Amino acid sequence: MRKKSISFIFASLCLWGVITYFLFLDRPIGREYNKDNIEGQIDDIEKKVKQQFAENKKFIQALKHNLKDQKKSKDAISAILVQNLDNNEPAKELVDKMDRQPRPIPDQEKNRKQVDEIKHTVSDKFLPNGNPVIAVLVFSCNRITVQRCLDQLISLRPSAEQFPIIVSQDCDHEPTSTIIQSYGEQITHIRQPDQRDIDVPPKEKKFKGYFKIARHYGWALNQVFLEFGYETAIVVEDDLDVAPDFFEYFSGTYPLLMRDSTLWCISAWNDNGKSELIDENGHDLLYRTDFFPGLGWMLTKDTWMELGPKWPKSYWDDWIRKPEQRKDRACIRPELSRTMTFGKIGVSNGLFFEKHLRFIKLNDVFVPFTKMNLTYLLKDNYDMAFVNEVYRSRVVNYTELKKDAIQNPGPVRITYHTRQAYKNTAKMLGLMDDFRSGVPRTSYRGVVTFFYKGRRVHLAPNANWAGYDITWS
Ligand SMILES: *[C@@H]1O[C@H](CO)[C@@H](O)[C@H](O)[C@H]1NC(C)=O
Ligand SMILES: *[C@@H]1O[C@H](CO)[C@@H](O)[C@H](O)[C@H]1NC(C)=O
Repeated sequence: MRKKSISFIFASLCLWGVITYFLFLDRPIGREYNKDNIEGQIDDIEKKVKQQFAENKKFIQALKHNLKDQKKSKDAISAILVQNLDNNEPAKELVDKMDRQPRPIPDQEKNRKQVDEIKHTVSDKFLPNGNPVIAVLVFSCNRITVQRCLDQLISLRPSAEQFPIIVSQDCDHEPTSTIIQSYGEQITHIRQPDQRDIDVPPKEKKFKGYFKIARHYGWALNQVFLEFGYETAIVVEDDLDVAPDFFEYFSGTYPLLMRDSTLWCISAWNDNGKSELIDENGHDLLYRTDFFPGLGWMLTKDTWMELGPKWPKSYWDDWIRKPEQRKDRACIRPELSRTMTFGKIGVSNGLFFEKHLRFIKLNDVFVPFTKMNLTYLLKDNYDMAFVNEVYRSRVVNYTELKKDAIQNPGPVRITYHTRQAYKNTAKMLGLMDDFRSGVPRTSYRGVVTFFYKGRRVHLAPNANWAGYDITWS
């Protein structure tokens, strides 16, 4: 790419030189000059053109050097980033530790080779047919149910070239490794090499799992973006079922993520996606949300280059939701979830699954998102329309809504002005009532939009809302 542009600049400059030369030649030189004079002039011009050529050449050389230096420093930065990320410690200690580490086991060597091969082949963002290459990063540890997730991803993906699957395994759990290996070349299996115990503050001992997850995420995302060199990735965990249009959803929304810098993720998940709270016919409905939903989400390398260097040691999902990270950016989320967790035995608590997650409805109708016009989701189009719909809707109270006693059709609004009022109403309606960094789940501009008894409802603050209050929790 760079070589091409340098050749292009060089060619243009040469062409320009030649044109100038001929322009001077063609210019009528006036009768008063005799032949010698003219020849002298031509010599002069020739000299000038040659000079110009020489200068152009110098300029190109300088440009080439500059680009090389840029690349060098970019590589150096990447190397430092990787180091910092993996260990958060100075290089010397790192080297010492590396020396003490066991030699790689043969399997890891094999992975290494596989990684090198793939690095070699990932040369571009797009396939010849114009489709973007999007890596699917599956996080795995010690659950053999990863098989269920992989079977679905492999059978649903429209193309292995477009959606290469990388399974990153932590934990060195042999039965799980065996299962992952059994997929052969359909996937790439990588293993988080740092299996050392993590120093966890005494108070957080029981949350050690979250420290391991953060370490694994940091390492694996670095692999995908820095080692393999992918430009975009979908993050999936080993306990997810996916909808038939899972890949179509991400392909269709990919241009939004590229185009709108106020978006930083596409999520497959609706936190309030239970049957009673969604329009079950709204398969194609999509929204913007200030709340980072996770659970099947797409991000770009650029976002990772920003987050990676400061990646936290634990609780990465709450960390990513903080204003310092989010910087007022939003995600796209669907009305009907495109992922669904089939049960968590592990770090996060089973109660949450039993009480909530297992009621989320998984979309079962294929929506051709890549053929749809989704520009309404770009911030410039969306915000005006959204605010208009929300604040022009009729205000009702919970009792009226619950009794289904509203006469007019169309969307309605329930207002809230305090943290407690939000929580009370959310609880009564069966919505998630928690906040992260002051943002209620699925909220956009403070508004939580859902569907209730056949009607669109917005749980909304005042129209003069001035932003999230991070003390609300
Ligand atoms: C897509 O929709 C927008 C409105 O959101 C409209 O302005 C635009 O013309 C549409 N584009 C096409 C190709 O239909
Ligand atoms: C809800 O609104 C109805 C109709 O305006 C009213 O009669 C009722 O008192 C309100 N209920 C509450 C709890 O405010």
